[in-house]
Amino acid sequence: MKEELKQLELDGSARIAEASDLKSLEEVRVAYLGRKGRITEILKGLGSASPEDRRSLGQMANLLKDQFAQRIDARKTELEAALREQKAQEQRVDMSLPGRAIPPGHVHVLNQIADEISDIFIQMGFQLALGPDVETEYYNFDALNTPDDHPARDSHDTFFVKPGVVLRTQTSPVQIRVMEQTRPPVAVIAPGRVYRVDLDATHSPMFVQMEGLLVDKGITFSDLKGTLMHFIHSFFGPDIQVRFRPHFFPFTEPSAEVDILWTARDRHTGEVKSKWLEILGCGMVHPEVFKNVSYDYEEYSGYAFGLGIDRIAMVRHGISSITHLYENDMRFLEQF
Ligand code: DAH
Repeated sequence: MKEELKQLELDGSARIAEASDLKSLEEVRVAYLGRKGRITEILKGLGSASPEDRRSLGQMANLLKDQFAQRIDARKTELEAALREQKAQEQRVDMSLPGRAIPPGHVHVLNQIADEISDIFIQMGFQLALGPDVETEYYNFDALNTPDDHPARDSHDTFFVKPGVVLRTQTSPVQIRVMEQTRPPVAVIAPGRVYRVDLDATHSPMFVQMEGLLVDKGITFSDLKGTLMHFIHSFFGPDIQVRFRPHFFPFTEPSAEVDILWTARDRHTGEVKSKWLEILGCGMVHPEVFKNVSYDYEEYSGYAFGLGIDRIAMVRHGISSITHLYENDMRFLEQF
């Protein structure tokens, strides 16, 4: 029995020291100190030993039991410390790693163009005006002298929100809202989104225009022409060729469209080509429009114009399809 206990002490001590993780240490504990463990069994079996043996063996076995419990505890503390250290190593932050860059956003190409154009007109003394995207038929059409049977009123071209209410098809209604609120002299520009039932490479159901309106005593078509030429030369450069082409708009008389001669190198063939591109509509404010806002058309005259911001952005940057401007593809947007 004594021999067995000695042997147990040797084996057990070795196994405790060798336990390399908490699980195997627990297995060792169960094997020696558990309810059916070897030391427990010895203590249970003491009843059949002689009285002297019982005493000395009992002491030895109990001593061994306490010793093992202590050693297992100590080993457990060691293993737990090692585990903590290992976890800390795994989770350590490497301060020398480069940071993850958060790319800063930037102004959308359409807003860049609109800002640049606004600045040119603001320097000439125009003020910024805004109007609602959801507009009444009155402001969008009637007050702008658009006849009831005008094709633009057709639901094929205009998004109707409900009878009498539309998504504005142009920024021109802002002219009416401004004139209703102020007396001449008036000089405003009004950028904003407009909507039409249209979709192809050059038309988007939502696009951006910028309206201009100037009303005062003695304003003539040469004022309009001078202002627009100054804008076009500031924006496209002094050498750009410009042409005013007679046109019709219900709210201006006479009216014109303005084209620029755009020269670009074809990206595929390398060929240099020039073509006339329409960038705006304009004209002298129609007397009927003045009547609708109670301006005296004998006393005042004025001009108005409407720029296509998308078109101008496409010309400036050689963008082939208007849809690129609204898809929010970062590979496209990051180029500007
Ligand atoms: N509203 C016109 C359009 O969307 C553009 C326009 C033409 C605006 C002539 C004007 C103007 O102010 O005088 O096609």
